[in-house]
Amino acid sequence: MAKKSASGSKKVTKVGKPSALIDTRVIYCGDNLEQLAKLPENCVDLIYIDPPFNSNRNYEVFWGETKEKRAFADRHASTQGYIEFMRPRCEELHRVLKKTGSFYFHCDWHASHYVKVMLDQIFDESSFQNEIVWKRTTAHNDPKRYGANVDSIFFYTKSNKYTWNTQYRSHNENYLARFRQKDPDGRRWQDYDLTAKGLSGGGYEYEYKGVTSLWRCPIETMKQLDEDRKLHFTSKGGIRIKRYLDENKGIPLQALWDDISPINSQAAEKLGYPTQKPLALLDRIIKASSNENDIILDAFCGCGTALVAADNLNRQWIGIDVSPTACRVMAKRMRDICGVKEDEKLWRVGRGFVVRDLPWSEKKLRELPPFEFENWAVIAIGGIPNKAQVGDMGIDGRIYPVSATPKKVEGELNFMDLWYPIQVKQKNKAGRPDIDSFEAVMMREDRTKGFFVSFDYTGDAMSEIDAFFKRTGKSIIALTVKDILEEQIAYKLA
Ligand SMILES: C[S@@+](CC[C@H](N)C(=O)[O-])C[C@H]1O[C@@H](n2cnc3c(N)ncnc32)[C@H](O)[C@@H]1O
Repeated sequence: MAKKSASGSKKVTKVGKPSALIDTRVIYCGDNLEQLAKLPENCVDLIYIDPPFNSNRNYEVFWGETKEKRAFADRHASTQGYIEFMRPRCEELHRVLKKTGSFYFHCDWHASHYVKVMLDQIFDESSFQNEIVWKRTTAHNDPKRYGANVDSIFFYTKSNKYTWNTQYRSHNENYLARFRQKDPDGRRWQDYDLTAKGLSGGGYEYEYKGVTSLWRCPIETMKQLDEDRKLHFTSKGGIRIKRYLDENKGIPLQALWDDISPINSQAAEKLGYPTQKPLALLDRIIKASSNENDIILDAFCGCGTALVAADNLNRQWIGIDVSPTACRVMAKRMRDICGVKEDEKLWRVGRGFVVRDLPWSEKKLRELPPFEFENWAVIAIGGIPNKAQVGDMGIDGRIYPVSATPKKVEGELNFMDLWYPIQVKQKNKAGRPDIDSFEAVMMREDRTKGFFVSFDYTGDAMSEIDAFFKRTGKSIIALTVKDILEEQIAYKLA
């Protein structure tokens, strides 16, 4: 299958050579501090990270058709707390980076100045190569200060011997307009002086095709240029050199990147994941700082933009994210966009990819942040998580029986009225008060059936469920996490 990279070039899919050093094409679910500790030192060629920005917000969005809540916490009590969180992770990243490797840290004004100091300490100031300023949006509404419309991407290398492929951007319209002249075959060119008059350092005086002058090049070069049809004989009897537009690679890329648009609401690649970065941005970084088959690591990979770009460019890749929701999203993206199969057997022979360490145990599920746990439980029993994280009126999700066919109204999926509420409590034992409040929800919404998920239930809670049924005819199905795990429903989440 041929795929397109962000730059539009066609990718010819081939089986990449898996690294003998480490497993690649793997998405690890878990805290990157623990996951990175499993990797040997000096094993990856390029690292890009885009960690939560210390922006003190709790990102939450609701995605398109499945209305699945995909969110991550972005809270640190202080900038110092954020740096303390990032420092051991960046030290680990430095450890796993090859001596010839490059490291990119994507951040913004919230913590960028502190991040730079921290990275100078870890990588050494002399390994700092540049700060890329990416114009993230045209305007940002920041009253009474200048609009904060840029991100910073710090670029470090582990030594002064590192992979570098110069990237170019095209010239502006004014510059391109100078290539006014055309050969009969349509090639556009402009001409430049070939004489050395006025230049310091002399030149070569001779006569060529009846024109005598002090030339910039020796006569052998002049003859070669003529043979290559690169001389322009002017109507006034002069000789000038032609420079063709199609031989011009553009301007070597500078540190200000204002030519890559953010993911807007109409973008085809938009998945709805908060802070999803454009593929073109990652495409550029990966092309500049790695070669085919090199290993790319993103240790905060969100919905996997870096992994998709790496795969499109025939690089090996490793992704890590603490959020099971993010891992599922990127696995889907890898399957849908890159056409790579999630399959252990194929992966063993260098094709396909695998997701490791999704929370299958009660212990791991207890450690999940509450919204991740809610997402997990609701989806595991076949429901759709509720839209609002707060103000959910006691409903964490809804189950629509198969018979309730969705109707499409104004682009939104608008379901028929048949649905059952789901309430999730990340508690050792849900008690009578928890059941009482769920009963109130069922009465208010006039539902005949509801689902409750918790680790276990008190005896009182179970008796109340029976009593509620006798009183109202409405049933509450009390599920435990163990029930869900034993039925392996969770496995379907991957
Ligand atoms: C800003 S998002 C990355 C977005 C990504 N660049 C993209 O284009 O989709 C940051 C990600 O870091 C993850 N994260 C936060 N803390 C983490 C940790 N300790 N270990 C691994 N991932 C973490 C979050 O779950 C979130 O998905």
